[in-house]
Amino acid sequence: MTADTVIAMEHVSTRFGDHTVHEDIDLRVVRGEILGLVGGSGSGKTTLVREMIGLDQPSAGHVSLFGEPLDRIDAEALAALRNRCGVLFQGGALFSALTVFENVAFPLQEYRVIEHALIRDLVYMKLRQVGLDPGVATRLPAELSGGMVKRVALARALALEPELLFLDEPTSGLDPVTAQAFVHHLQGLHRELRFTAVVITHDLDLMHDLCTALAILADHRIVAQGTPAEVAASGHPFVTAMFSGERGRRVFGAMAP
Ligand SMILES: Nc1ncnc2c1ncn2[C@@H]1O[C@H](COP(=O)(O)OP(=O)(O)O)[C@@H](O)[C@H]1O
Ligand SMILES: [Mg+2]
Repeated sequence: MTADTVIAMEHVSTRFGDHTVHEDIDLRVVRGEILGLVGGSGSGKTTLVREMIGLDQPSAGHVSLFGEPLDRIDAEALAALRNRCGVLFQGGALFSALTVFENVAFPLQEYRVIEHALIRDLVYMKLRQVGLDPGVATRLPAELSGGMVKRVALARALALEPELLFLDEPTSGLDPVTAQAFVHHLQGLHRELRFTAVVITHDLDLMHDLCTALAILADHRIVAQGTPAEVAASGHPFVTAMFSGERGRRVFGAMAP
């Protein structure tokens, strides 16, 4: 393992009862990259991410995060590692009874003792960072559009200035224009903040515009990993089906197999 490795999974297998989800997965995420984790629905993408942050344990194999072996550290050390991560869960998942301000302030209040005035400044800074007007701070999630909910969830994920960001289907449910604006915004933030990210997605535009590498989960394994061009050339049937459809050809052009 090199100093640039942020996440390393080795021989990871996951079973729920007699249902096998992952079989002998090796996966490495290096500092600064945006890795797109791609696979069919139910292929085990969310479970893999939960294992990367120690929310789930694999049935076999090893996971290390920031060089620390997750199967051999105590709860306190794990919590410290998680403080270095931001997570945008599938569907945005804001607390519906809390205002936008309270949602973004939540991780700040939960994990660190900070004075009130500083929390307020940080929340407004995060809202600005994701392109939201400070006026939305007093609104409830039900009063926001889908695109705004994703931005608030992103602001919350960024609250602790994470080195590592997990985004689970960040553009699903957004219309194409809103999705594109969101991806464009993420690109700008990545240039500015230089985090490492793992992004679960089905969105070909997002893979093309945002991801520096892709990992394809199919048949319980990572069947291809590398730059989009390397993955496209892998020839796996799942990859071919994804890239050679009408949309895949339009987005990836000559790269499509
Ligand atoms: N806690 C669990 N108990 C039993 N089965 C689970 C659990 N979590 C996930 N699974 C199963 O594992 C498979 C992969 O789920 P998931 O990781 O959510 O897939 P994806 O995110 O790729 O859609 C699914 O068949 C799902 O039903
Ligand atoms: Mg999922």
